[in-house]
Amino acid sequence: MTVSAPQVTFPRAFLWGAATSAYQIEGAVREIGRTPSIWDTFSHTPGKTVGGETGDIAVDHYHRYRDDVALMAELGLGAYRFSVSWSRVQPTGRGPVVQRGLDFYRRLVDELLAHGIRPTITLYHWDLPQDLENAGGWPQRETAFRFAEYAQLVGEALGDRVEQWITLNEPWCSAFLGYGAGVHAPGRTDAAASLRAAHHLNLAHGLGASALRSVMPARNTVAVSLNSCPVRTVSQDPADLAAGRKIDDLANGVFHGPMLHGAYPQSLLTATSSLTDWSYVHDGDLATINQPLDALGLNYYTPTLVSAASRTAAGRPRPGGRDRAAGTPWPGAEDVSFHQSPGERTEMGWTIDPAGLHELIMRYSREVPGLPLYVTENGAAYDDKPDPDGRVHDPERIAYLHSHLSEIRRAIADGANVRGYYLWSLLDNFEWAHGYSKRFGVVYVDYATLARQPKSSAHWYSLAARTGKLPP
Ligand code: NOJ
Repeated sequence: MTVSAPQVTFPRAFLWGAATSAYQIEGAVREIGRTPSIWDTFSHTPGKTVGGETGDIAVDHYHRYRDDVALMAELGLGAYRFSVSWSRVQPTGRGPVVQRGLDFYRRLVDELLAHGIRPTITLYHWDLPQDLENAGGWPQRETAFRFAEYAQLVGEALGDRVEQWITLNEPWCSAFLGYGAGVHAPGRTDAAASLRAAHHLNLAHGLGASALRSVMPARNTVAVSLNSCPVRTVSQDPADLAAGRKIDDLANGVFHGPMLHGAYPQSLLTATSSLTDWSYVHDGDLATINQPLDALGLNYYTPTLVSAASRTAAGRPRPGGRDRAAGTPWPGAEDVSFHQSPGERTEMGWTIDPAGLHELIMRYSREVPGLPLYVTENGAAYDDKPDPDGRVHDPERIAYLHSHLSEIRRAIADGANVRGYYLWSLLDNFEWAHGYSKRFGVVYVDYATLARQPKSSAHWYSLAARTGKLPP
């Protein structure tokens, strides 16, 4: 007799969503007063993206949003997380709002609500108005206040119909890939500036959260999406464990320290003291940043594996192990080496490690007991192509989603308060420096015609969303 495994069943109120971001899907970059963001400038700079690709047209969601919402409804999605393009609604990053820019988001929200899909707004998904970068960008304190003003404008306009709000998406990427490694916009490689940027992003979150609350109905929720990741070490050797703690501070503690606990980890301040004196952390900033959150968003793809630079991946001593040139996203971590985690990888080269998601969720359940958690991104890139029958079969993505959702269910069984999941992404789209070469969508986009076609993973996810159970 064969006994099949019981189907994984989720709580009835669990939210089944999908996520995107403005620059990655909208296109229409010159429409009605929109001015360039740092990503327009960066992607138009030769050599910055694969094939020189840009988000000029992206997947033209700006003009096709009605069809895209209809597709979401067909798939039975309960929620949709998208971001607002700051320079579409407030072109120079200061001053009054452009109503017609904001109208696009009003129409999108109304369309979602008409189809029974809950909108979740991310205010900042990496596209700083270029004018604010010209004035100094995130390393400048003033940028945090500009963000708060923008948050208030959007909150006033849409707070009556959008209940779920996210201030920042993955501030780690904005600070450390944008100002440290230089592989994301604005492409600067200045370790000290990346730490200043991190603080001002934290401050922007705090100021933005209170600005939103000052203009929105009390029932609305305010969260942030962090790309916190489990940091693993190649061995239990004290040198490797110290390397792991340092990277945990730089990947995670630098944001969740002030946001959740009102303090930067002392070990972070010490490790970076040769680069910065942190004097830009003013009195009162930590209290401003430490806003009570209504929920925490976790974006998870893969864990990080490190050792002391003096040791190999096998945990053996390696003399003179420094292996990184200028432009690092890890300021003050010259004594740490990064390694590829063992196991199967996605097209991004990221190791598939569903247990890492369970680990992350349980960590934050302990850090802030009872706080509602959402997985605000999780997904995989594969080299999808239509078959001769014209359909796109992506069994690897189904396996990826199945394994990660199963780990979320296990975390719920272990007591975690996980309320929902937004897969990344609804549509194939502009994958930043990788251009259009990496496909994360459950819906295939033919970039020649911009036609959309649900992949088999979309049908799989649709069934999960409709039934609350993972199809085998
Ligand atoms: C995180 C980012 O928020 C999103 O914009 C990106 O496309 C995915 N990760 C995949 O890299």
